Amino acid sequence: MTPTPPAAVMILAAGAGTRMRSATPKVMHRIAGRSLVAHALAAAAELEPGRTVVVVRHEREAVAAHVTEVAPHALIADQDPVPGTGSAVRCGLSTLDATTVAAAVAAGGADMAHLDSQVQGSVVVTSGDVPLVDGALLGALVAAHQDQANAVTVLTAEVPDATGYGRIVRDGAGAVTRIVEHKDASAEERAIREINAGIYVFDAAALRDALAHLTTDNAQGELYLTDVLALAREAGGRVGALVAPEASAVEGVNDRVQLAAAGAALNRRIVDGWMRAGVTIVDPATTWIDADVELEADVTVLPGTQLHGATFVAAGATVGPDTTLTDVEVGEGATVTRVHGSLAKIGPGATVGPFTYLRPGTILGKKGKIGAFVETKNAEIGAHSKVPHLSYVGDATVGEHSNVGAGSIFVNYDGVTKSRSEVGDHVRIGSDNTLIAPVQIGDGAYTGAGAIIRHDVPAGALALNAVSQQVVEGWVERRRPGTPSAEAARAAQDADTARGLSSGAQEERAAAAADHKGEA
Ligand code: UD1
Ligand code: CA
Repeated sequence: MTPTPPAAVMILAAGAGTRMRSATPKVMHRIAGRSLVAHALAAAAELEPGRTVVVVRHEREAVAAHVTEVAPHALIADQDPVPGTGSAVRCGLSTLDATTVAAAVAAGGADMAHLDSQVQGSVVVTSGDVPLVDGALLGALVAAHQDQANAVTVLTAEVPDATGYGRIVRDGAGAVTRIVEHKDASAEERAIREINAGIYVFDAAALRDALAHLTTDNAQGELYLTDVLALAREAGGRVGALVAPEASAVEGVNDRVQLAAAGAALNRRIVDGWMRAGVTIVDPATTWIDADVELEADVTVLPGTQLHGATFVAAGATVGPDTTLTDVEVGEGATVTRVHGSLAKIGPGATVGPFTYLRPGTILGKKGKIGAFVETKNAEIGAHSKVPHLSYVGDATVGEHSNVGAGSIFVNYDGVTKSRSEVGDHVRIGSDNTLIAPVQIGDGAYTGAGAIIRHDVPAGALALNAVSQQVVEGWVERRRPGTPSAEAARAAQDADTARGLSSGAQEERAAAAADHKGEA
């Protein structure tokens, strides 16, 4: 059954995260394109709770600012100096209660506020460092809690090595009686392999009562949230547990080895999800897809590909191998091969790569092409237009059905200001051109090979400024005698003479060859 949305979700994120050995707070380390706490917030959001509160203390300013950026509606609760998860939840609950009063007053019920001044119903408590716990698992926990009318329901898991975790103690009938922390456990209790995942649903009133009775009388001198279970039971409440179907899903991140393991597990889950949705992923092990990426059916992702951020790939497109896209939109049926791109848009049926660098602001039109060893930035390249080889196109607009010859550079920066180049439709820019912005090339214009375009070219014109070719016959044999080049030239001449070619015929042949090389 679909559970009733909980009154609140509380995410604990006040811990120091010492084992990360990092200047960055633990919950701000990222996997699958989101911070650990953003994963917790996303899972929480799926429950559609009345309120979300994040408890912070260590690196308070950085964590609070980050949480507010990811989830502007989330409340921030500051943990007081008392250590322990029980203390953290106390602080979170008083923030929830305070905002409940504020909401009641704002709703015009000032004199009713004392009645309604506390959160009622289900309160989910989870951690900022368990990124594999998703909305579905939290939802199952809430459903079990409500179905069984429990005071507390704890998420547990059976693990091969329970070292460090709190152990779930059950009575002869199998009912959960309490949780004992590893440091406080007897040898017998340490043999228990069912662990506390640190994720719970509480009835708000039962939680509030039990929190008031917590003590620091334990091995760590902390207020343990885990003691709430035994206290709630003593007070007559029901305590239940949900065993997670996959123990690995509840594993927390404490160090960077676990961060990488969680990242790989989450990636595998995302990749599997897309394959089931109709995406072909040839090599899941070398394909990395962030949580916010969107793929349509019949996309093919080839090995060694990373899709980051808000990247979107439309139906039938092929991406990879060896391609990294961040916030890139790939159109239907496009082909993107060995590309590094960010904040770019690739039109339907377009072709990009291999070995192409798409920088922010690149927009390639339908059936356009950006080919090998081309870098683009702030460049709009229209439908059916091509930049096939070895070029830089920066701060430019190219119309439709135009071609930029091999080795062309759009010179957009004079050392002080950046300027734009505008190229019309059906333009043919010769090979090895330099376009010095600001410059405009009109529709249907041509430019010659090797041209330096400093001034506008009107529609339909040919612009060229090539120097004429000079041929100095016999120069190598006279000026570089005895070199391999001179010997090769001599051999060629001897062969021609043997075939009876006149020197005039040789000249004609050389001139014809030079002509051919003008175009790419
Ligand atoms: C806690 C549980 C343990 C469980 C384990 C699961 C307690 C007493 N123990 O252990 O039974 O098996 O989680 O991982 O709850 N935090 C605060 N303020 C604090 C202390 C912690 O906000 O003063 C936060 C941490 O940032 C973290 C979460 O609470 O997100 C859990 O704290 P952590 O110290 O990692 O858990 P353990 O004490 O190892
Ligand atoms: Ca601890």
